[in-house]
Amino acid sequence: MRRILAGLVLSSTLVARAWAGQPAHIHGVNLGSWLVLEPWMLPQEWSDMGGQECEVCSTCIASESSFAKAYPDTVDTTFAQHWDTWFTQDDVNTLKAAGINTVRIPLGYWIVEALVDRPNESYPRGGLNYLRRGLSWLQDAGIQVILDHHALPGVQMPGQMFTGDCTTDVQFYTPYNYRRALVWTAVMTVFSHLDPVFGNVFAIEAVNDPITDATNTPDYGTFQKNFVQITRAIELTLGISVPSSNLSVSVSPSVSNNFTAALIATSSATGISTEVQAALLEAVPILREIGAASGLQTTLEASPFKQSGPPLVANFMDVNYQHNNPSNPADVAIGPQAYDNHVSYSHGGIADPDPTSYMSSICNFKRLQADAAVGNSPLWFGEWELATQFDATDEFLCKWADAQKLAYSKSAGWIYWNFKIEISNRTDGNALARQWSYLEGLKLGFLTQDPAALHDPNVCVSYMNKTTDDTSS
Ligand SMILES: *[C@@H]1O[C@H](CO)[C@@H](O)[C@H](O)[C@H]1NC(C)=O
Ligand SMILES: *[C@@H]1O[C@H](CO)[C@@H](O)[C@H](O)[C@H]1NC(C)=O
Ligand SMILES: *[C@@H]1O[C@H](CO)[C@@H](O)[C@H](O)[C@H]1NC(C)=O
Ligand SMILES: *[C@@H]1O[C@H](CO)[C@@H](O)[C@H](O)[C@H]1NC(C)=O
Ligand SMILES: *[C@@H]1O[C@H](CO)[C@@H](O)[C@H](O)[C@H]1NC(C)=O
Repeated sequence: MRRILAGLVLSSTLVARAWAGQPAHIHGVNLGSWLVLEPWMLPQEWSDMGGQECEVCSTCIASESSFAKAYPDTVDTTFAQHWDTWFTQDDVNTLKAAGINTVRIPLGYWIVEALVDRPNESYPRGGLNYLRRGLSWLQDAGIQVILDHHALPGVQMPGQMFTGDCTTDVQFYTPYNYRRALVWTAVMTVFSHLDPVFGNVFAIEAVNDPITDATNTPDYGTFQKNFVQITRAIELTLGISVPSSNLSVSVSPSVSNNFTAALIATSSATGISTEVQAALLEAVPILREIGAASGLQTTLEASPFKQSGPPLVANFMDVNYQHNNPSNPADVAIGPQAYDNHVSYSHGGIADPDPTSYMSSICNFKRLQADAAVGNSPLWFGEWELATQFDATDEFLCKWADAQKLAYSKSAGWIYWNFKIEISNRTDGNALARQWSYLEGLKLGFLTQDPAALHDPNVCVSYMNKTTDDTSS
């Protein structure tokens, strides 16, 4: 009886709520290394492009930024070739056939080209057209989309290819770069609602993988608050109803056919912070420029823009991703919000490097409960993979896949890292893809053709920690 009651209480706090547009159970993959290229995932292609490999990635051409600086005249055409081939209509067909209902698309701030402070900063140009084309394929396939601000202006984490620039000079947590990230958010929010090809976007993730020690992310809480505010201010301008908003935005009839003019008016509405005000004003000319290039001038400036769809889900890494008194994004919610956690056993620090420790750890995984206790619900697991710190047998990888899916499916769902990985001599054939590529894992039978299925639903039974109050049933 006690157990049943405890189960009932937990299931009400852990309810995996699905917001509008969000699949009831997310079975997803990341479209990693497409619009933010991480050379380790495609070493042969990177080398063919002219890139390099080195121990410390800041010391050679091992990121988009260093590549763009090394090849200023050819970087755009070289990357166009990559964007055109790394993710294709065929991939969409394969993912759909594999039952994938969601993709998370890692994006760099530089996809909004006007935000790049040239010549101090260099990145390839032209990615937005490929994003728009990919979004239209995904929409036709009925696959839902999370736009993930993966690589932030100023770099959010030192020494990482995924930030676009392998540097120890981390400048994201400053007013200038917070403002650029807000402008990026404004642009993505506007197009998510007004550009028809963005129709399947249901969430925007504010910041991928910030520094985990919150003492090194000053004012991040203020940024989170402004992220929500700029999203909701734009949506209120569009006539979208946002529950319990503190913002008072109204659109006067004189600008009701000119969205950019209405946005300028919103920037001085009651309740808008000075940071959001500045970012809205900065976004307007950028919206016009992109609108002109994408054939959306009439939509932006010469037609009624009132929308009736749902607001976007504001997506943050969960508060427990950071330590040392982090700000809790749940405190700044206005409207739908969801949380993201990344689990990477192969990076160490989660379990001892052996199969039994991995299984005991994942079969007693408590992140969902820990997050729900501080309001970070619904939660999804936006990055996970089969990679291990030890040589794993095929048999173990089947169990490892099952056990992780079992753990993560108690949340709003899971999104694998990555949809694919290069298979070449440089990667020892499929040695890298075997534990990092969803499509290869599927081919090898570790993952199941029906993503909701398990080889063995009882995979965790012998590893359950009988001394704790389990919530698996
Ligand atoms: C950017 O470059 C200009 C010169 O082109 C320089 O004056 C400025 O200080 C640089 N800004 C930063 C943030 O490095
Ligand atoms: C829309 O409003 C902006 C800002 O006031 C203005 O510059 C632009 O000319 C207007 N566009 C049209 C088509 O009226
Ligand atoms: C909304 O306003 C109330 C009352 O002023 C305040 O307590 C609350 O923190 C505000 N919420 C947000 C998300 O700013
Ligand atoms: C198992 O339960 C014990 C006692 O509650 C706890 O100390 C230990 O951390 C638990 N192990 C796991 C893997 O949850
Ligand atoms: C891979 O290595 C094999 C054997 O050394 C060689 O024959 C083949 O051409 C290589 N393939 C590529 C794509 O380099």
